[in-house]
Amino acid sequence: MTDFTMQKDADGVAIVTWDVPGKSMNVLSLDGAAELNALIDDALADEAVKGIVITSGKKDFAAGMDLNVIASMKEGGAQSVFDGVMTLHHLLRKIELAGMDPKTKKGGKPIAAALPGTALGIGLELPLATHRIFAADNPKARIGLPEIMVGIFPGAGGTTRLVRRLGAMGAAPFLLEGKLSDPAKAKGAGLIDEVAADPVAAAREWVLKASDTDLVKPWDAKGYKMPGGEPYHPAGYMTFVGASAMVHGKTLGVYPAAKALLSAVYEGAMVPFDTALKIEARWFTNVLMNPSSTAMIRSLFINKEALEKGANRPDAPDQSVKKVGILGAGMMGAGIAHVSAMAGIEVVLIDSAQEAAERGKAHSAGLLDKAISRRKATEEKKAEVLARITPTTDYAALQGCDLVVEAVFEDPSVKAEVTKKAEAVLPAEAIFATNTSTLPISELAKASARPDQFIGIHFFSPVDKMALVEIIKGKETGPRAVAKALDFVRQIRKTPIVVNDARFFYANRCIIPYINEGIRMVAEGVSPVLVENAAKMMGMPLGPLQLVDETSIDLGVKIARATRAAMGDAYPDGAVDEVIFKLAEQGRLGRKAKAGFYDYDEAGKRQGFWSGLASDWPEADAQPELTEIQHRLMFVQALEAVRALEQGVLEDIREGDVGAILGWGFAPWSGGPFSWLDMLGAPRVVEIADALEAKFGPRFAAPQLLRDMATKGDSFYGRFGAGKKAA
Ligand code: NAI
Repeated sequence: MTDFTMQKDADGVAIVTWDVPGKSMNVLSLDGAAELNALIDDALADEAVKGIVITSGKKDFAAGMDLNVIASMKEGGAQSVFDGVMTLHHLLRKIELAGMDPKTKKGGKPIAAALPGTALGIGLELPLATHRIFAADNPKARIGLPEIMVGIFPGAGGTTRLVRRLGAMGAAPFLLEGKLSDPAKAKGAGLIDEVAADPVAAAREWVLKASDTDLVKPWDAKGYKMPGGEPYHPAGYMTFVGASAMVHGKTLGVYPAAKALLSAVYEGAMVPFDTALKIEARWFTNVLMNPSSTAMIRSLFINKEALEKGANRPDAPDQSVKKVGILGAGMMGAGIAHVSAMAGIEVVLIDSAQEAAERGKAHSAGLLDKAISRRKATEEKKAEVLARITPTTDYAALQGCDLVVEAVFEDPSVKAEVTKKAEAVLPAEAIFATNTSTLPISELAKASARPDQFIGIHFFSPVDKMALVEIIKGKETGPRAVAKALDFVRQIRKTPIVVNDARFFYANRCIIPYINEGIRMVAEGVSPVLVENAAKMMGMPLGPLQLVDETSIDLGVKIARATRAAMGDAYPDGAVDEVIFKLAEQGRLGRKAKAGFYDYDEAGKRQGFWSGLASDWPEADAQPELTEIQHRLMFVQALEAVRALEQGVLEDIREGDVGAILGWGFAPWSGGPFSWLDMLGAPRVVEIADALEAKFGPRFAAPQLLRDMATKGDSFYGRFGAGKKAA
């Protein structure tokens, strides 16, 4: 396989083209790096070559390092990671110094990068090592260093070079938040040097006239001072102290990559460039050897992508959706209509009144207007998307739809009625999906004349933002319906998980106990501040009390009533109801009512806790240990995920982990509940669960599966990993 090729032109420019065979995007492997190394050696040694342009044979430059390679590098241990990273440093440093005399800094060959499109991760770190970066004037291109999003940081010199180029403050949003920019913005921020209509031509022209001084990086020149100041410079001092506090405030110590990145920047800023690269490599190795980065890469990159590509898709011909019917143009229906139309699918949006259907379409117009104001869409795009949505009350308009998604009121009889009305006009092969959040799919399917074509497609709110879609198989759902749902989810560019039918499916089944545990603690007299902070210090994006305010307390009341009716005397959550029913009675329905567990100002901004909490549920004199609160909040979710697996609701732990992070924000640093339990190890998990059960009751009972794993020394990924089915 040849990832890099070189063409030497008559005018002395060597064009190195990166074009990994069989992939739509370039990614760097260690073999690829060795090829590039050999080509650079060749070009530097060849007297006929005056300069080098590195570009791509694809529409984009590169998506980054091959994360599968990173995952496998780890298997050789810390030394092998460090050695691998140092190999990349040597290559990039060779490009940067370009054969110049080490003392006089003269005689090097100019090397430029020409980026036709997106350049991410090592796809930007490599250009940063060249002497000038040209990017095509392509507003769709994304340029940046997103490594932090999967629990690592730019470790091929990107961290050290960007900080020396922009200063610690200037580099912070790109390194710490993984901010991506289009070429114009990237140039404005100093990430790249030029935007050109034809970047290869511009780069070629530049290398032919570049002088010796053009090749010397500021940090290799005498008297270099870091922009914004080094750590012991008065201004730099402020930046570093502030950054350290800010990172800790945002991550609360649970994201090892952010802290390691800061250490690499701080320590690196005080030593010469080559030493800084070595320090960067050490911290990068440290992060890579941390189980959090392994778990994050596995869930948020490798497995997420595998699920999106149909890892659990039944074998069936292409089921891409051309025309979708959406029943109910409320909050969910309007959102589903919008994402479908954005994906180029024709939409028939039905509600019982024309006005309601129009309002649903207006939701899409509103989102597009917002995107236009942020320069993320154009008026033409808006017109094009809106033209695909037909709002109506007429079921006859469903003719020709190959998929229907029902999002009417959460009432079985209303759902049954619309199912029948739709099936009367739909083509025989159309698939009917329900977006119910609580009703069993197999029950709703009874209203259908073709239950094998009936399925659950459960979206999360707000539909345009939430990445997860839960696909639920009823008892009679057939494989083509599953394939259809998966193909639809792929079209609208979301991430699917496929689960079996059971109360609350998967995501809600785990998130409701989390919320309830937080509320239960308030009833017990645990400080609400302690509850919320304990959750956030475990990496939950929202504490349970803030979360219930967001999702609304009346929804909690509704679910509690329905669950109590279904479970009778076995209903375990009386203590929770005592709190939420009381709040609901006082109209404290959560954020939408500007009153819930928290107070809100007129504009809806969250303030402190409602003072009534302290009077109705006074804080106990003795407060529990932080760890105990954290164990309760995390185990109540994770054990539920294990039960879902044990009972066959979940069929694949990859879906359990990816779904947990994308669906309800389960501590992303952990890689999801199964990854987290694997980090703790089954014996320790059982020990903690036993202690919690003894103190707080049977909701913490360790499932038999975990006990078996503890006895056998198994882990979830050892036993069920890489697509091995749970069954
Ligand atoms: P909503 O009340 O905002 O919208 C329901 C819409 O259905 C209304 O516009 C109503 O006029 C329309 N409708 C009612 N009966 C109809 C009929 N016979 N024919 C045509 N249209 C009819 O409710 P929302 O929140 O959009 O929920 C819809 C469904 O989605 C429910 O099943 C709900 O459980 C589910 N869901 C809700 C989520 C949420 O966060 N709100 C999340 C996931 C699922």
